[in-house]
This record gives sequence, structure tokens and C-alpha cells, in this order.
Amino acid sequence: MIHSIPQDTIQRIKNVANIVDVVSEHVVLKKAGRNYLGLCPFHAEKTPSFTVSAEKQIFYCFGCHTGGNVFSFLMQREGVAFPEAVRALAGKYGIEVPTEHLSPAQKERLSENEQLYRVNEEAMRFFQRTLIEPQSGQRAMSYLVGRGMTRKIIDGFQLGFAPERWDALCRKLQEKKVPNELMVKAGLVIPRKDHNGFYDRFRDRVIFPIMNLSQQVIGFGGRVMGADLPKYLNSPETPIYNKSRCLYGIHKANRPARASGRVYVVEGYFDVLAMHLYGFENAVATLGTALTPDHVQMLKGMVGAAGQVYLVYDSDQAGIKAAQRSVRVFEEGFLDARILVLPKGHDPDTYLREHGPDDFLKWADKAQGMISFIISTAINTHGLSLEGKVKVVAEVQESLAAVHDSVARALYIQQLAERLQIDENAILEKVRQATGRSTPHVAKATDFRERLEVNDGRRLEQQIVAMMLCYPQMIPEVLGRNLVDYFEDDQLRNIARMLGQRGATQQASAADMVSMIEDPRYRGLMAQLALEECHWDRQGCERFLSQFEAHHRRRMREDLQRQIEAAEKNKDTELLSTLLRKKQQQAGRGLINS
Ligand code: GTP
Ligand code: MN
Repeated sequence: MIHSIPQDTIQRIKNVANIVDVVSEHVVLKKAGRNYLGLCPFHAEKTPSFTVSAEKQIFYCFGCHTGGNVFSFLMQREGVAFPEAVRALAGKYGIEVPTEHLSPAQKERLSENEQLYRVNEEAMRFFQRTLIEPQSGQRAMSYLVGRGMTRKIIDGFQLGFAPERWDALCRKLQEKKVPNELMVKAGLVIPRKDHNGFYDRFRDRVIFPIMNLSQQVIGFGGRVMGADLPKYLNSPETPIYNKSRCLYGIHKANRPARASGRVYVVEGYFDVLAMHLYGFENAVATLGTALTPDHVQMLKGMVGAAGQVYLVYDSDQAGIKAAQRSVRVFEEGFLDARILVLPKGHDPDTYLREHGPDDFLKWADKAQGMISFIISTAINTHGLSLEGKVKVVAEVQESLAAVHDSVARALYIQQLAERLQIDENAILEKVRQATGRSTPHVAKATDFRERLEVNDGRRLEQQIVAMMLCYPQMIPEVLGRNLVDYFEDDQLRNIARMLGQRGATQQASAADMVSMIEDPRYRGLMAQLALEECHWDRQGCERFLSQFEAHHRRRMREDLQRQIEAAEKNKDTELLSTLLRKKQQQAGRGLINS
């Protein structure tokens, strides 16, 4: 792994970073015995199989077999490379990662994503300064204040202003020696059509920096202050900005959402700000997109599977559409959501300013579950005439078909049948038809559930690797007895060899050793093995190794016996005598060794 971060910096981070804290920002963890348990952020599941060990500083999911240490967790969770994971942790724990000593070549190797974060950070600072300065920022500041924003909110969300000029940011970044291609890649500037220079994407707009959970700036949104169109402009998709994987305000909402077990999902930037202003800090916004499976996983990471997710919509129509579209996504992600539709003409921003937080909460109390909401709105829209009922069933059948839980589905169908005064079986039929049509949502957690098939030999091999991880001082002994060569399982043999070769020293922790492995399949298996509780003393270890040797010898004997019998049957006397000689030798060795 080539990176430019000094080893002692990595060590300092390892010394202070606690995997339980870091994972807790993404997953709701509960103490379970010596470990912590939560819902896996890497696959959809209903019952927790994601395990974190504070003692060993590793994680492992018994469902999908993902595992590793604190760095690999962040790398996989945020989809970043090692140096970025290191920097994110360094930032979190206030550890400086030196760059000055790097050669230009090394600097170039700093991963592209990381450079993008830095350019965005520079740009954010520039926008912020422009907003705060009395002259340049005056208009934007009065706009924000006019919309009820306080200085605390403006600073807290690091709002900014992009000046009206064509190249204000571009020049600023050039001054800072940022290469043009990087600015383009970050979506901050756009090459001129005539290939003659660049111009700023965001001009004369209020700027909302968009952050990830690790407080890195991944993109921007910008709003005009007048009636021009488009009203909002967002960063284009970049290597670090993918709108189907980001929620505006998540860096602020994460802790409050976790604490309250509730998160509000609103539609716009200003809605998030207004929610904060009125004391609802557990609010995030999707930026003009429908909720994606990634969003659902992020939300579940914030509030847990039993958490309350409120999808807040401006209008019935938007709410219905969104609810219909989202049922499947939430069902697949094993998360429930309620739909909160505000009174006509209101979004959270205008509603809160007109009616205040108490009324908002009262309104939230009336929020219905997704399916109930879809059923009631369909009935309200189409009425209970004959034609109306037909339309209602047609409108809700897909959503009902998406419900995984057969009991819940049966109850909804029953409820609908009662409200429409029609036969349950008729609805059931329709739902069955819809199930056939719909995308196969049965491909879910069970796919990941194939547990390790464990035969005795493999189990022993696993335990030897676990021992090597638990007691590195036993590694020379394991190698000395040539035990690894006897391993039947290729993966385990390779892991054991790697542990042997990479000079696992007595100081190396299990997490260190796990992190040496780059192949995620191997890392997962290692993490699993490292989580095994080992209660042996030195003698116990030795006994165990001998047991393995005995097992191996027995297998060899059985093997040989089978070959002998085959040779006898085939009357192959030559082979038979060779095999019998071998048997004698084996028996001799067995006597000496045991
Ligand atoms: P305000 O008028 O500032 O209160 O905005 P709003 O958040 O109430 O706007 P609206 O409900 O119209 O839009 C909700 C969200 O959709 C916004 O916050 C943006 O993220 C997105 N959006 C709205 N208009 C546009 C647009 O013209 N272009 C893009 N790309 N996104 C938009
Ligand atoms: Mn609004």
C-alpha cells in the first residue's frame, strides 16, 4: 500500500482512535457481553450481526463477513482510500498529518479524493469570508437575515456567498496554486467553450457547503437571492459527491438523531436550517432526489432499526409520490418511516416560522406509517364509489406487494378490505399479481446468511489462526511445527502464511495484523477469527497444537488406509508394498511424536 503518511502519525491515531466511537457515528451499537452489536451498515438486515470489539479494536459482520479495523471501516463506509481514512480520523482526534516533508512526487500521490476535499475546503473558506465581509457579503447577509437566519446558524452551517464576478473563486484558487484540472474536477469551475480559461460555477449565490459524516466538504449548493432560474444550483457529480449518497446536514443531525431515536427528512436546505433554528437538530435533507437505498442505510445508521424516520413533505401530491416510490426502498432496508405532510402551501421552513415548534410536533404526532398513508390518500383522492374503489386498489397494490412482513401485509389488506367493503381475497389476488410483476425483492439478507460450513478439520485450522492472532508469540511455534502446510483450507493456509511471513511481532495487535491484509475477503475472515475468545495459556496452546497434529495424522492414516484398500482391490502389488512401507513409517513417527 503506497501512501505518504508517516508511520508514527498512523500509530498516534491508532493510540487514540476508538473503533467503538467511530463506528457509533454510523451504526447504533449496544453492548452485548464483551462486544458491541448493531445492524450492519454494509448489508440490509433485521437482526444485528455486526460486532465491534473495543478490546481488540476490530469489527466483523457475521451476516456478510465484512470485517477489519478502524481504518478499513471508514474506507468501506465512506468509500475512500487509506490516506483519506487516516486524515478523517486525524481530523476527528485533532492529530496533525504532516505534508511539508513530502517530495513533489509523494504529494502527487496524495489521493485525488483527498485533494478534492482540500479544494472544496478552500472554496468553502473563500465563500464564508466573502459572506462575512461587510462589503462583499452585505446583500447575501441581509437575504439570510431576512429569511430568519441567525449568526449562529450561518456560522454553524458554514454558509457562504459566491460573488457576482465570473472568476472570483477561480483566481483565489489559482493564487493558492490549485491546478485548474482539480478545480474542474471538483465542479467548482467550468472550462470556457472556446477553451480560453475557466469561469466559476457558483456566481452571485448564497452557498451551502454539503458535508459527509466526517465533516469533509463534498459539494455545494447555491441559491439565487432573487427570482432567477434555476433557483438552486448544486455541484455536479464528482468522485466525492454523489447526491444519492448524501444527506444535507447529516454531520449536525447525526448525534441528536441518535440521542432521540428520531430523524426528520426534509426537502430543502432552508428547511434543515429552520428545523435547527426551532430546536429540531435531528433533520437532514435529500437534495432534490428520491430517497435511495444508500439514504435508507444512512438513516438506519443514525437511528437504528427501531428508530423513527419522518419524511416531511410540502404537499399531499409530493408526499404521495414520494411515499409510493419509497415504500420498496424502506422495506428492502428493513426500516419503517412515517409520512408527515404539512398543511397546504407550507414547507418546514415557512410552517415553523408561522406556527412554531409546538404545532409542528403536534402535526408530527399525526404522521401515519407509509402504507396507511398511501391507503388513506388513495381513498381521499378517488372516493368510495365503485370506480373509486377500483382505482384505490390499483393504486395501492404495488405498495402492499412490497411489504415483506407477511403479518403486516395481511393486516393492511384486511384494513383495506374493511374500508372498501370488498372481499379480502380480491385484494389478495391483486397483490399477488403485483408481487409477480415487481422487481425481485426476495433477494435479501438470507443471501448473506450462508454460515461458515464447519467441518472438524477446518474448525481446528480456524482455531490455530485465531491463536496466531491472539498470541503472536505462538507464531514461531506454529511455523516451527510446519503445521500450516497441513492446512486443508486454502484461505486459512494463506492467512496463516501471511501472518508468519509479515513478521508478526509480539507487539503487533490483532487489529494491526488484520489491517495488514488488503483483500477484503481475507480481512473479513481474519477479523472474525480475531474476535474469537482465546482462553489458553502457553501449555493450553501447545496442547491444542498437538491435538491438531494428532488430527492431521489420523487423517493421513485414514487416507492411506483407503489407498491400501484400493490397491488390494486392484491387485496392484507394487503400489501396495509402497503404501505398506509408508504406513510403517507413519506408525513409527506417530509413536515418537505422541
Ligand atoms: P426556498 O425557496 O429557498 O425555501 O427553497 P425550498 O427548499 O423551499 O425549495 P423547493 O421546495 O422548491 O426545493 C427543495 C429542494 O429541491 C431545494 O432545497 C433544492 O435542493 C432542490 N431544488 C429546488 N429547486 C431547484 C433547482 O432549480 N435546481 C436544482 N438543482 N435543485 C433544486
Ligand atoms: Mn422553502
